[in-house]
Amino acid sequence: MKASELRKLYIDFFKERDHAEIGNSSLIPDNDPSVLFTTAGMHPLVPYLLGEKHPQGKRLVNFQKCLRTGDIEEVGDASHLTFFEMMGNWSLGDYFKRESIKMSNEFLLDVLKIPQERISVSVFEGDETAPCDMESVKVWKELGYRDEQIFYYGKEENWWGPAGQTGPCGPDTEIFIDMGKEKCSKDCQPACNCGKYFEIWNNVFMEYYKDAEGNYQKLKQQNVDTGVGFERVLTIMNNVDSVYDTELFLPIINKIEKLTGVKYEEDTAFQYRIIADHMRSATFVLGDDKAVVPSNVDQGYVLRRLIRRANRYLAQMNAPENSMSQIAEVIIKEYSHVYPELLRNREFIITQLDKEEKVFGRTIAKGLTIANKIIDNLGTSKVIPAADAFKLYDTYGFPLEFTQELAREHGVSVDADGFRKLFTEHQEKSRAGAAQKFKGGLADSSDETRKLHTATHLLNAALRQVLDGDINQRGSNINSERLRFDFSFDRKLTAEELAAVEQIVNQIINEKIDVVCEEMTVEEANEQGVVGVFGDRYGERVNVYKIEPYSIEICGGPHVDNTGKLGKFKIMKEESVAAGVRRIKAKLNAE
Ligand code: ALA
Repeated sequence: MKASELRKLYIDFFKERDHAEIGNSSLIPDNDPSVLFTTAGMHPLVPYLLGEKHPQGKRLVNFQKCLRTGDIEEVGDASHLTFFEMMGNWSLGDYFKRESIKMSNEFLLDVLKIPQERISVSVFEGDETAPCDMESVKVWKELGYRDEQIFYYGKEENWWGPAGQTGPCGPDTEIFIDMGKEKCSKDCQPACNCGKYFEIWNNVFMEYYKDAEGNYQKLKQQNVDTGVGFERVLTIMNNVDSVYDTELFLPIINKIEKLTGVKYEEDTAFQYRIIADHMRSATFVLGDDKAVVPSNVDQGYVLRRLIRRANRYLAQMNAPENSMSQIAEVIIKEYSHVYPELLRNREFIITQLDKEEKVFGRTIAKGLTIANKIIDNLGTSKVIPAADAFKLYDTYGFPLEFTQELAREHGVSVDADGFRKLFTEHQEKSRAGAAQKFKGGLADSSDETRKLHTATHLLNAALRQVLDGDINQRGSNINSERLRFDFSFDRKLTAEELAAVEQIVNQIINEKIDVVCEEMTVEEANEQGVVGVFGDRYGERVNVYKIEPYSIEICGGPHVDNTGKLGKFKIMKEESVAAGVRRIKAKLNAE
């Protein structure tokens, strides 16, 4: 089965069941400081899961580009990926468990013709938050599943969300396909990661909200949020062993073979898969309209890690210079008919990859000097201490295996257990840091963030006025303290321009204008001269926020109802984030 066929079958199946198709969203969430990347199709839908009315109705379907780095260490096996596509269908307070499970089952059995015998499912076993999900069990049994095909797990396995620290979540029922391999042990079950079972579909019954204190409250509506692993289903439909053996990866693998002269086979599969996966992720992050560049913080850091890891494995296979950008060219070619932003941002992708390759080349050389010194000074111990291995990792981007390899060449070893301990501690610290930093929470709709959302529209309008319409929004991020707005513009703004922008925003605030939300089609929005933010992300019906005559923008909200509520607007900083992209940070009521 072709990838395009699978996309179409899924979308059509749900459209026939009254679901409206919604567009693809950016990999970098809009106005949401709680996560770095879009990790699931539900992400852009959070306001609607919480009860806001979606302009396209209560039943939605799409496929969405996603990025998760939680599983990065698993990449290399048959099914784990960092970037992936998720097909999803949603009920926003419409159907619930029974209908959702029945539709999933029908799609798998009747459309994809997967034998029921290969399928097993899991349900939530119950705890102090919610009872055992017997309702789902009942439906699965009615559909002909035997007790041996139904597994019961706790929150760890069968509870999904929130995506950030706070937000909608709930118990889920997961669907697994038996890949026909031997069980890894007599206890091997669907939740096992050995590769016997592929988890392909998750139906989440989102009727809870987790707040910042960790309490679960019932939402005002019962939603369904589902996600199907596109690459995994394609693997199953084509009867191949891994996601990398599908048409989604083969051209990438072939390109790596050409570049390195090393064959893709059992012994090299691990390296190959890491390169292919990480390059696909890096290309999509760089290819996003929001212009993320490799750096040492936030999305830029994740991007840098992906690029460096891919680059190191390429270097090990003696790939020539600029191999990464050549691989990216293949990815752009293969994917731009579905994700046209890759073509739009082609030059940016290529330039950034070549640049990072050069910078990393220098870092590697420095790291090697340090590593050699460490090894020379080992004396009789013959073991590189964990702290040194960790320093090489943290400062010079040397993964453990790389240091181990170096060590072997010199007849010494590495305290790998110690390294892993430091690594875990470091991860916990950075997770705690991230949690702290992102404490604004998912879909934070406090008064402060509402005001800053509205202020962002005014800033966008003021910039257009002062810079003669010569800008386009590239990204926005809001927490309860400040707004951050990225836009395309090719030079630093002058002090006069910044003062003029501030003055215009404050003037609109003083005019106390009503903020009006209207629902319309994209075409109607275009006719009204709406500022379209990210070309193809929108489905057919959208919410348009008007602050007339200054601003009309497509936006999910939430906003204040009158500009008079904003207080005083002040720009704190204007800087460059990438070639041709500027960033403004601003506050309301700053001292
Ligand atoms: N949001 C759910 C998941 O990612 C469907 O598994």
